[in-house]
Amino acid sequence: PDEKIALKARIKRLLKEREAVLVAHYYVDADLQDLAEETGGCVSDSLEMARFGRDHPAKTLVVAGVRFMGETAKILSPEKRVLMPDLDATCSLDLGCPADEFAAFCDAHPDRTVVVYANTSAAVKARADWMVTSSIGLDIVAHLHAQGKKILWAPDKHLGSYIQKQTGADMLLWQGSCLVHDEFKGIELDLLKAEYPDAKVLVHPESPANVVALADVVGSTSQMIAAAQNMDADTFIVATDNGILHKMRAAAPGKRFIEAPTAGNSATCKSCAHCPWMAMNGLLNLAEVLENMTNEIQVAPAVGLQAVKSIKRMLDFAA
Ligand code: 13P
Ligand code: SF4
Repeated sequence: PDEKIALKARIKRLLKEREAVLVAHYYVDADLQDLAEETGGCVSDSLEMARFGRDHPAKTLVVAGVRFMGETAKILSPEKRVLMPDLDATCSLDLGCPADEFAAFCDAHPDRTVVVYANTSAAVKARADWMVTSSIGLDIVAHLHAQGKKILWAPDKHLGSYIQKQTGADMLLWQGSCLVHDEFKGIELDLLKAEYPDAKVLVHPESPANVVALADVVGSTSQMIAAAQNMDADTFIVATDNGILHKMRAAAPGKRFIEAPTAGNSATCKSCAHCPWMAMNGLLNLAEVLENMTNEIQVAPAVGLQAVKSIKRMLDFAA
């Protein structure tokens, strides 16, 4: 604990010295989330992270999350220096959608409006008409559908089919998935619900359809936290990365949060739903990147100039 206190103090000092701000996601280590809040940074979902990074005057952003979050920050603010505790922190959705294969898929369907999830590389975003996050994807696809547009969607098949069902839009889906959310199990969740009949079920839309079908609320991480805070219930079953529980408990003290069952946690494993790449962010590597100003995210300017259009469309729509 002494070591932790010293590391936190060192990070706070370095953030000041370097005139840097910390932008963290709800899935990273609780200490990093707290540090972000205590130092005037932010902890939030992907949409708010993008907006915060764009609007904050600091010349250096430190993004505690996964690579696509750092890249989005850099694309929106190419003049800022964007650092990440570990540049190898990626995402199974990003890995499962290589830019060349994706470009061929788009080329084969030129009649479709290309909508990609934020969890993609800069090159994939550069090929898209729109980038969306989980908090606003449904509204944007509904808007495009109302204009009679046919959609090509990538990469998350679960989020895509959820949006397709909700909007009735014509959507051609890339078949990617998140390795964390893909593990939530519908049958086991139904059994757990029977044990806690008064519990409300909060589900991230990267989860499989039979899990989403049991949800009281489907939404982004920020939307799930808001639901935990605002819904008139004492107990919640939560189907997303368990890093979110730290903030949920702080936002809704006195309420009870139970992790939704995954293939592994129904018996013994208590922390299966945790993203291995989010877990690569820690106090030590955060302190080191601030000390040495290393691990800078680079996006080729030509790619950034193209990708920024799809991101800005979303931010303008959200405004
Ligand atoms: P949110 O935008 O809902 O925070 O989701 C990001 C993510 O990676 C979920 O797995
Ligand atoms: Fe990607 Fe899933 Fe990790 Fe989110 S939780 S960053 S979607 S692998």
